[in-house]
Amino acid sequence: MSVRFAGITFKNPVIAAAGTFGYGIEFEDIVTLAKLGGFCVKGLSREPMPGNPPPRLFETAAGMLNAIGLQNIGARAFVEEKLPLLRKVPNTVVIANVFGYTVQDYETVIHILNEGEGIAAYELNVSCPNTKHGGIAFGQDPVLLSEVVACAKGASQRPLIVKLSPNVTSIPQMARAAEDAGADALSLVNTFVGMSIDPETRRPRISNITAGLSGPAIKPIAVRMVYEASHSVEIPVIGMGGISTAEDVIEFLLAGAAAVQVGTANFWDPCACEKIVDSLERWCLEHRIGDITDLTGGLITQ
Ligand SMILES: Cc1cc2nc3c(=O)[nH]c(=O)nc-3n(C[C@H](O)[C@H](O)[C@H](O)COP(=O)(O)O)c2cc1C
Repeated sequence: MSVRFAGITFKNPVIAAAGTFGYGIEFEDIVTLAKLGGFCVKGLSREPMPGNPPPRLFETAAGMLNAIGLQNIGARAFVEEKLPLLRKVPNTVVIANVFGYTVQDYETVIHILNEGEGIAAYELNVSCPNTKHGGIAFGQDPVLLSEVVACAKGASQRPLIVKLSPNVTSIPQMARAAEDAGADALSLVNTFVGMSIDPETRRPRISNITAGLSGPAIKPIAVRMVYEASHSVEIPVIGMGGISTAEDVIEFLLAGAAAVQVGTANFWDPCACEKIVDSLERWCLEHRIGDITDLTGGLITQ
């Protein structure tokens, strides 16, 4: 079940997605963290961020809208308060999700995180649709994307995963821009910009007005984007968007993903990742798959 890329060995290809699994340790009592391939901690910024005012979450048909606005304790507090606790959990791959308003912010966050022990890689969030500046702006313009990736890569002492936005016209263009600027791997998709209105009050259901759509509703679009990205670059791709079963994982691997992340499913079942790992193991046994990496890019089109 193990996969290896960007110099990191994951015991299985199932990683908990950023922003849906806190700082990991909150889940310690209910989830066997060591069972997961890895997990991404919440997006970390230079300074603590309070996030957007409520309402910030709304359930939609087969999905969820969120505009949390990257509430987090800041990179420094993460290194000092959370990371030492995480290091005590044996055999876990920790990926730190990095956010900034400016290129310099990304660089500063990475410098702070470089000081912490026990982080396997950085995931550069250039795709958050829920903040007024930064985030998605970098992920929608190939020139800005190259700039922020090159700067982050220069600052980073760890492998760099670049998390792409699905809110673009051409995923291959953005994937290649990130690869050319030095990304060691890509991850996609972040959430799709969406909106919901209460017909009675005529008001937006989310205070930020627009929000990010995630969950099973986005899965077919995410699979298509992972397919396009993985066929445009040489570096490995981590796929996500609506995964809640082992079969969903297989779909993303066949489309070209080397590993996957699970996000919204953690909200309806905090043990979702663990259960997916178990059923993925069973699926591989039943289908006589000895090495899960054989599935990556195995889509048959003729
Ligand atoms: C409540 C919530 C918070 C999120 N926070 C982050 C974040 O901090 N950084 C990030 O890169 N992505 C964040 N995401 C996006 C997820 O990591 C993931 O890319 C997206 O939800 C698609 O996967 P899913 O359909 O399995 O949830 C967040 C998603 C949700 C639902």
